Amino acid sequence: MAKNKNTFLGPVVALSVVILMVVAFLAARQHFGPKPGDPGTVTNISIGGPFSLTDQDGNAVTDKDFQGKYLLVYFGYTYCPDVCPTSLSAIGRAMEILEAQAPEKAKRIQPAFITIDPERDTPALMKSYVKNFHPRMVGLTGTVDQIAAAAKAYRVYFSKVVEKGAKPAGYLMDHSSITYVMGPNGKFVTHFGHGTTPEAMAEKLAALK
Ligand code: NI
Repeated sequence: MAKNKNTFLGPVVALSVVILMVVAFLAARQHFGPKPGDPGTVTNISIGGPFSLTDQDGNAVTDKDFQGKYLLVYFGYTYCPDVCPTSLSAIGRAMEILEAQAPEKAKRIQPAFITIDPERDTPALMKSYVKNFHPRMVGLTGTVDQIAAAAKAYRVYFSKVVEKGAKPAGYLMDHSSITYVMGPNGKFVTHFGHGTTPEAMAEKLAALK
C-alpha cells in the first residue's frame, strides 16, 4: 500500500512542478510581451501617430486635421459581417447618450472609422457606410501603404482571409477590435475593448477634461 502510494506521488509531484513552471512562464510572457491588439496590455506602449488618408468626400486628411478634438477611432472594414457593425453601433449609441447628457462635450469628440481594407473601401463606399452609425462619423481610406502605416501606428492587427473556393472579391479581413480615444493633442488617452457597452463608453467620454 505504502509502496503504491510512493510510486504514485513521485509523478504527481513532478507533474505539478512542470505545470507550475508552465503557468509561471505563460504569466511572465503575458506580462513582458504585450500582444498588439490585446486591450489588456496596450497602456504602456505608444499608440497613434501621424497618418495621411482620404476622407469619405475624397479629401486628403492627416492626423493634424483632427487635433483640437478628441478622436474616437476604430479600424475595420465595410464588408465586415458582424464585428465592425457592432462596434460602430456602440460608438454611435455612446455619442447619442453623450449628446443627450453633455452636448458641449459631445461636440469635442470626433468619431472616425478607418478601413483596413482599402482595396474595396472607396471613399464613396465609406461615405454611405459611416452615416449608418453617426451623422458626424468620418470614414477614412487610402492607399494600401497609407493604411498599413496608420494601422501600424495604432498597433492594429489585420490580415486578409481568403476562404477556399471563394471569389477573388469574397475575402474577409481578420482584425483587432479596439476603439481608441486620442486626445486633442493627438496623443493616446484611453481605449475601449471589444464589447464595451455604449453606456460605459459614454460615461468615460463624459469624464474627459
Ligand atoms: Ni470587422
